Amino acid sequence: MGSLQLKSIRKAYGTHEVLKGIDLEVKDGEFVIFVGPSGCGKSTLLRSIAGLEDVTSGAVIINGKEETLTPPAKRGIAMVFQSYALYPHLTVKDNMGLGLKQAGTARDEIEKRVTRASSMLSLEQYLARRPSELSGGQRQRVAIGRAIVREPELFLFDEPLSNLDAALRVQTRLEIARLHRSLKATMIYVTHDQVEAMTLADKIVVLNAGAIEQIGSPMQLYNRPANVFVAGFIGSPQMNFIPGDRVGDGQAKTVGIRPEHLTLSRDSGTWKAKTVHVEHLGADTIVYLESEQCGLITARLFGEHKYEPDEIVYATPDGTHIHRFDANDKAIR
Ligand SMILES: Nc1ncnc2c1ncn2[C@@H]1O[C@H](COP(=O)(O)OP(=O)(O)O)[C@@H](O)[C@H]1O
Ligand SMILES: [Mg+2]
Repeated sequence: MGSLQLKSIRKAYGTHEVLKGIDLEVKDGEFVIFVGPSGCGKSTLLRSIAGLEDVTSGAVIINGKEETLTPPAKRGIAMVFQSYALYPHLTVKDNMGLGLKQAGTARDEIEKRVTRASSMLSLEQYLARRPSELSGGQRQRVAIGRAIVREPELFLFDEPLSNLDAALRVQTRLEIARLHRSLKATMIYVTHDQVEAMTLADKIVVLNAGAIEQIGSPMQLYNRPANVFVAGFIGSPQMNFIPGDRVGDGQAKTVGIRPEHLTLSRDSGTWKAKTVHVEHLGADTIVYLESEQCGLITARLFGEHKYEPDEIVYATPDGTHIHRFDANDKAIR
């Protein structure tokens, strides 16, 4: 009750093709995240699933039934946006129940669903307040509550945490994860934040310029990126890319090594380098290096390390975590 299939979805605005043939399967109960740079088509794809955009061609299949031309209200989908879009003059309770009321749901059923959703979201004590009397995080929880009470088969979220400050983002992220576990509903969630994608998703869909670059679990994308784009997009700080010929690899155009898979030594190692800048993050130390052989590279060391700028050090890659890419930027397996 909440599966989705997309078949060759294309969407163009005039001559500008924004979605270039998207094929995707989402299983019932899955948490799927669309991630990709700004403008790559994430919102357009989500809105196409919701029926808020007409696709140029292709099919949207919900629970095995083609719904490509079904109006949004009849798709059994609820969508949560970045801006909360709450009615300022209505209380939290009425905001949450409004959609049901408009759909003619009985009053005691609305009461029951709003009570249940507000307890799931710890909103019980705010039910009589108006949106202006709530924090940003609380408002976004009301917007999520408004989606929950409709008991949709499919939840769509478009960057729901982008307007929240860092601490609230983490807290609300945990709430959304918990909600997914307790509702067991299918969720499709758009973000440009790869930490959100890594922490929430069963399955991540990496989009770039209207096409899917790779689909996989967070660890599949991290450990086995299919191409240079995915390798560079997933992981922070970004993977180091080094021309293969610089490191004696005649087959690979590019060799990739993540910052956390480099070790540093003052005495000896594979690549001689000079430290350019050091960031002390407490749990980690990020060391930016300039190497004659490899160019600029970044090392991420666990814990505190007392490197200073302009020191000569040696970086050594962990040979079990080398990524190799061919002339088309595809991973060499
Ligand atoms: N209504 C529209 N008319 C014309 N172009 C649009 C419209 N909506 C989005 N676009 C274009 O489609 C591309 C994808 O947009 P969008 O799906 O919002 O990207 P994302 O959500 O990944 O940032 C962008 O180049 C954007 O300018
Ligand atoms: Mg968007």
